[in-house]
Amino acid sequence: MQHRPRRNRKSAAIRGMVRETRLHTEQLIYPLFLVQNAQAKEAITALPGQFRHGLDSLLKEVEESMNLGLNSFVLFPGVDDGLKDAIASYSYSEENFYLHAIRAVKERFPESCLMSDVAMDPYSSEGHDGFVKDGKILNDETLPILNKMAIAQAQAGIDVLGPSDMMDGRVGALRDALDLEGYSDVAIMSYTAKYASAYYGPFREALDSAPKAGDKKTYQMDPANRREALREAALDMDEGADYLMVKPALCYLDIISDLKANCDVPISAYNVSGEYAMLMAAVEKGWLNYEQAMPEMLTSIARAGADIILSYFAKDFAKMQNQRG
Ligand code: PBG
Repeated sequence: MQHRPRRNRKSAAIRGMVRETRLHTEQLIYPLFLVQNAQAKEAITALPGQFRHGLDSLLKEVEESMNLGLNSFVLFPGVDDGLKDAIASYSYSEENFYLHAIRAVKERFPESCLMSDVAMDPYSSEGHDGFVKDGKILNDETLPILNKMAIAQAQAGIDVLGPSDMMDGRVGALRDALDLEGYSDVAIMSYTAKYASAYYGPFREALDSAPKAGDKKTYQMDPANRREALREAALDMDEGADYLMVKPALCYLDIISDLKANCDVPISAYNVSGEYAMLMAAVEKGWLNYEQAMPEMLTSIARAGADIILSYFAKDFAKMQNQRG
């Protein structure tokens, strides 16, 4: 035999030498849920180990993470129903606890990287990412609302905006609005290829943000489509996106790979709530080994081409990296 690939797997030293993908904590973004009551720390049933944090607990979580070398976070608000309306006005209200929290985190941890969620659903009485009229999600009417939300987040000190709404033209609209207001240094990580996925279930439970009627299929992508992601990517790049995201990650590794091959901005992937829940459930049952299955899952996403991964596993991964030294 001329060729014996097993020679390159002979020992840990050799495997380490030829390893093609090395995931580092610095590539991870840790999603955190935020609620108004400053003292809150509420467990989320379908996301064991994740919480709805009040400001006190949020600051503690950020501090612990940063001590582990995990410096990037994406924040999602859980808003009381009484504060929701048709135009998501609480999203840019001076009162908004989410904006206060962004300010508080950036004041206390200026070296952190904070990313926001830009979409109407946490604030909308309809539970949709866009403005609803007569049962339709209106695209162009949504854009000025997203702009107001984004400017309020920029004022609060956000580093990266994360438009997760999938309205057409929103990246360009946000870029123009930011530049006009003097926020040319605020970046945009576009949810470029966001699919209408069943794997967002636990997230919607966590934030009580499920649509009141209908589904999100007229704006989020059809899971059956691959080439369409390249079209979305070309538009987002053209409109000035600084990063392109694929979401979810695991069922869409081919899309991550396509974007990596075709685009010259950093590619991120969102290892979503359902992917986390799926693994945690199997671990709870004793069917999978967490310490092995979790890094394998994250590494597969990086191997497919993700430069950055948003994941609820981020803190545990950072802990494991620190233990290994
Ligand atoms: C909403 C939003 C969703 C997620 C992030 N932003 C849910 C949705 O589109 O319904 C899902 C994240 C996850 O499942 O972890 N704009």
